[in-house]
Amino acid sequence: MKLSLFASVACAAIALPAMAADVTYRKDVAPMLKKYCAECHSVAAGSPSMAEFKLDEEKFKKEKVGPLSDTYEHLLQLVNGMSTGAFMRRLDDGTSPYAGGKPGNMYKYLCERENKDNNAECAANLAVLKAWVGEGGWNLNRMTTRGDVPALTKEQMDKLKLKY
Ligand code: HEC
Repeated sequence: MKLSLFASVACAAIALPAMAADVTYRKDVAPMLKKYCAECHSVAAGSPSMAEFKLDEEKFKKEKVGPLSDTYEHLLQLVNGMSTGAFMRRLDDGTSPYAGGKPGNMYKYLCERENKDNNAECAANLAVLKAWVGEGGWNLNRMTTRGDVPALTKEQMDKLKLKY
């Protein structure tokens, strides 16, 4: 038991940095978002740009479409742009600081629909997205303080990798 735990911890420690360096938007993130998110976040779905989305979030919520995230530039609006941290807040599995122990409301979409309860698939996809964002870059903070959640710091921002 002890031995296998050690082995898996050792493997994770070795595998993670290798994966982080290799994860790119083009190779890993874009195909994933196309598969799991395009249904509601794409031109075909009638998604607005982030600027349009921010003008009338309630309307788009009713129409069940989210902001465009179908290009690198659109996606960055959700990471460190107009909606800084939204990507991390919505996709977090509930374990990050300030998540309050609750997964973000888009986390479940990281699994196939017919596989909704397959938490392993969601978790594996989340690990890829976290590696893409960069070690220490997965933060739920916004650009400005909100309630108990402090604003994102320069140090946190500097951790973002987001390789194209
Ligand atoms: C069934 C439709 C649907 C799917 C599938 C879906 N989303 Fe969404 N998403 C929405 C809607 C509607 C909103 C806007 C309402 C809200 O904020 O919850 C939204 C909002 C968001 C936001 C917050 C935007 C902001 O600036 O506040 C993010 C980030 C997001 N989605 C990411 C994703 C990702 C990544 C995926 C795929 C893993 C995904 N969504 C899959 C419908 C969907």
